[in-house]
Amino acid sequence: MSDYVKIFDTTLRDGEQALPASLTVKEKLQIALALERLGVDIIEAGFPVSSPGDFNSVRTIASEVKNAIVCGLSRAVDADIDACGEALGVAQQFRIHTFIATSDIHVNAKLRKSQDDIVEMAVAAVKRARRYTDDVEFSCEDAGRTHIDYLCRMVEAAINAGATTVNIPDTVGYTTPTEFGGIIKNLFNRVPNIDKATISVHCHNDLGLAVANSLAAAENGARQVECTVNGIGERAGNSSLEEIAMILKTREQLLGLSCGINSEEISRTSKLVSQLCNMPVQANKAIVGANAFSHSSGIHQDGVLKAQNTYEIMTPESVGINKNNLNLTSRSGRHVIKHRLLELGYKESDFDLETVYQSFLKLADKKGQVFDYDLEALLFFSQQKHEHAHYVLKYLHANSGKEIIPSATVTLQVGDEEFTESAIGNGPVDAAYNAIQRVLGHKEVEIVDFSLDSTGEGADSLAQVSVIAEYKGRRFHGIGLATDIVESGVKALIYVLNNTYLADQIDLQKQQVRIAGV
Ligand code: KIV
Ligand code: ZN
Repeated sequence: MSDYVKIFDTTLRDGEQALPASLTVKEKLQIALALERLGVDIIEAGFPVSSPGDFNSVRTIASEVKNAIVCGLSRAVDADIDACGEALGVAQQFRIHTFIATSDIHVNAKLRKSQDDIVEMAVAAVKRARRYTDDVEFSCEDAGRTHIDYLCRMVEAAINAGATTVNIPDTVGYTTPTEFGGIIKNLFNRVPNIDKATISVHCHNDLGLAVANSLAAAENGARQVECTVNGIGERAGNSSLEEIAMILKTREQLLGLSCGINSEEISRTSKLVSQLCNMPVQANKAIVGANAFSHSSGIHQDGVLKAQNTYEIMTPESVGINKNNLNLTSRSGRHVIKHRLLELGYKESDFDLETVYQSFLKLADKKGQVFDYDLEALLFFSQQKHEHAHYVLKYLHANSGKEIIPSATVTLQVGDEEFTESAIGNGPVDAAYNAIQRVLGHKEVEIVDFSLDSTGEGADSLAQVSVIAEYKGRRFHGIGLATDIVESGVKALIYVLNNTYLADQIDLQKQQVRIAGV
């Protein structure tokens, strides 16, 4: 019987804090629900005190997620812990995660306190968090560079104060597997009350060792691993969830360790996180990269055809990659589309069949054959639509070519009114954006990033545009999908505009509440 390792996912906290534009509440909830379905044990949903937006997201996730423990982060400060307690109180099961730095570098240069002060602050924080819940995690930030004697003292004090999980982060990704495994071993040998808590690890990937270090820790007794989908996170990122899960699954017999991840959900969750976070996954990334299960050399192809396990240590199906044998065209009916979506692992509650089917027909008319990746992209985009969009694209015409001045005409519905504007630009997308800016008048939205990707393989694949724009000092992310690059770019901008509109509405409501409260 294998020992169970808890998977603590911090995509929405450590991962999100490193994104160029923050996620909306709706996007965070979408990811949280995908993580719940993936089978993670704990979802770190955010850092409630850091902003009203984060507080709101943690609260929303706490009220929606039922099958995972929802967790919030706090410094060892009363206001942070209270914000966590308030945001998480609505959850069925929740955890407060409080932390303070313990390495000499952090204690002396950043916190400017004595080691005794730090122990005192940690103990007080854990005790305060215990007023809200019995499930309290304490982290020794920069544990990887903390003197082992002091680390033992901190861990013992935190457990005595009531911490039920103690996390040992390699905050700067500095340690090596033997060294990090040794730290965990030492803690088990030297801390007298260590059996009263779960020992967790949280490794960063600055030297590319995050997964190896987490694994070494688990081999030495750690029973919780903190990680993120696609390994996103501060700087070079965190330990990658899918790699940890598949190591435990593929090498369970060797390691004697297992986890509760439903591996067939991995591919879909990875794509969702990559798209919503605007963080592409490198093609050769283990488990979820586009090439992770493709064989290039003739010798390898020949081997795999004869026996799959010659060059495959796990199957693509085991991580949720299904091979399609249905030819989807405009002649395919609704039931075929539904059947294929269910086969791809979606549940009926994930999609509105009529909406997906109507976009499928439009795409099939343009492309002929629709592939799985097209269908998944359509489904994804049908989920991203704003319910009552303030800005709606009604008409778009763009002209470009060699030796003509690019121009575009756009009709935009803004609320109940329609406006048409034309403009020129240094390309058709720029011209369309200039036309939209004319419709917007004084509303200043500045594009800070524009990237183009394709969701498929051939020249007929769908163009996916990601846009990051700045509005009133905040960054907003939008994505658009179409067979046409200009249309896709315009859709991405309109998505951003609708998010800025929602943000304005929320600000307005807050002002009204404040005025009413005066
Ligand atoms: O890297 C780190 O030390 C952290 C802590 C807050 C756990 O993210
Ligand atoms: Zn971290």
